Amino acid sequence: MAWTERLTLAERAAREAGALLRTKFGRHLQVRSKGVRSNLVTDADTESETLIRAMIARRFPGDAVLGEEEGQSGSGGERWIIDPLDGTTNFTHGYPCFSVSIAFEVDGVVVVGVVYDPLRDELFVAQRGEQARCNGASISVSKVMELRDGLLVTGFPPLSGGEPPNLAPFREFTLRAQALRRDGSAALDLCYVGAGRFDGFWEADLHAWDVAAGALIVEQAGGRISDYRGAPFRLDGRPIVASNGQIHDAMIGALKAFAT
Ligand code: IPD
Ligand code: CA
Ligand code: CA
Repeated sequence: MAWTERLTLAERAAREAGALLRTKFGRHLQVRSKGVRSNLVTDADTESETLIRAMIARRFPGDAVLGEEEGQSGSGGERWIIDPLDGTTNFTHGYPCFSVSIAFEVDGVVVVGVVYDPLRDELFVAQRGEQARCNGASISVSKVMELRDGLLVTGFPPLSGGEPPNLAPFREFTLRAQALRRDGSAALDLCYVGAGRFDGFWEADLHAWDVAAGALIVEQAGGRISDYRGAPFRLDGRPIVASNGQIHDAMIGALKAFAT
């Protein structure tokens, strides 16, 4: 396949960055705020991104890279999109739920997506056109048919003052779904939709690095991705809904009122 070499590198880099995060998890960290008080960054985030960027630069020196901590380097239609530590708040509290997310896009289309959970040693992988996998085994979305039987997950962006806009949708889904979770790593939330552990996910204010890899994993596991109105998902668009497909229209029905 055309992007197999990128996929292989993404897998290796995610595992190596994950191993680095494992060694830092639970130890003393330098924690700083970026912009707003609850938006955290640690030395684990920055060291993980440095490691991934170095591996890409050695193997594909001409590739552009967008990383959460260092921003954009290089240009061109072929670009890596990296979240070196998704779940920083969890990480700083010792809550064992975080991941490394690495995607590769070509002209706005994600063709490779890899998300690694270092504590469970689970590597979620997708290449466009092929079934998504976790640790080598094919994964598929759940078969839940109705929203009232669904386990959903969401997340909230760092507080920026005032009432978080996601509180109203959270209330709505609390009334409509079987149960809700808020786990703190959007990349893993998406992988869990792909693996059938969650039936749906929504969040309003994510960035490309949070969702690029996970969205491809959902798609290649047979799921559906859109914005709050049901329009096709875009990397530069903020609101995202991901589901097993069966409950998607019901989720859109509940979210329409909150689409901006
Ligand atoms: C955060 C996580 C979280 C989501 C936040 C993101 P970070 O990313 O993905 O699940 O709810 O909106 O900012 O900051 O830990 O990389
Ligand atoms: Ca993130
Ligand atoms: Ca991050």
